[in-house]
Amino acid sequence: MTHQGFTLWLTGMSGAGKSTLAERITDRLRAAGAKVELLDGDVVRTHLSKGLGFSKEDRDINIRRIGFVCELLTRNGVIAVVAAISPYRAVREEVRERIGRFVEVYMHCPVEVLAERDVKGLYKKALAGEISQFTGVTDPYEPPVRPEVAVDSGVDSVESGEERVWQFLKREGLIRE
Ligand code: ADX
Repeated sequence: MTHQGFTLWLTGMSGAGKSTLAERITDRLRAAGAKVELLDGDVVRTHLSKGLGFSKEDRDINIRRIGFVCELLTRNGVIAVVAAISPYRAVREEVRERIGRFVEVYMHCPVEVLAERDVKGLYKKALAGEISQFTGVTDPYEPPVRPEVAVDSGVDSVESGEERVWQFLKREGLIRE
């Protein structure tokens, strides 16, 4: 396959399926011969953003750092895939402007469903007041206004979400099979 450098940015609340979808897309791109890097919030926070917390200020710093790496990768013809809550619209728009070729994927899921599934047990803790500033519970999440792709992980299967992203990338000429 041939491809351009671009950034595929998955935003959404904890447990909405960002990492799962990002890993699948990354694996599929790599298997097709693409140069691709995955930047996952949980991993980034153990390296590049170690020590940052979850205040608005720290989250914005985290997103700007991830965005900076994406900018470098994108301009060198690499596909950067990001899975980060990135709850604030303004800083997402800021990195979009800097990067240029930027595809925003909104992973939506009702908070009731997320709290019910609670894969990491974090919603239970947040609702019990044991974690402060938890996105969607005691901290804001600002959904994208016009995301390039929207996936409802409360309804859509992982496969259909993956396919929707893949078809968008093909349609836009970002990847050519
Ligand atoms: S972001 O807001 O700065 O984009 P990021 O995606 O890097 O967040 O990290 C989110 C992960 O941190 C979650 O998946 C969860 O495991 C963990 N986490 C710990 N505390 C919080 C919190 N207060 N709000 C959201 N996620 C949290």
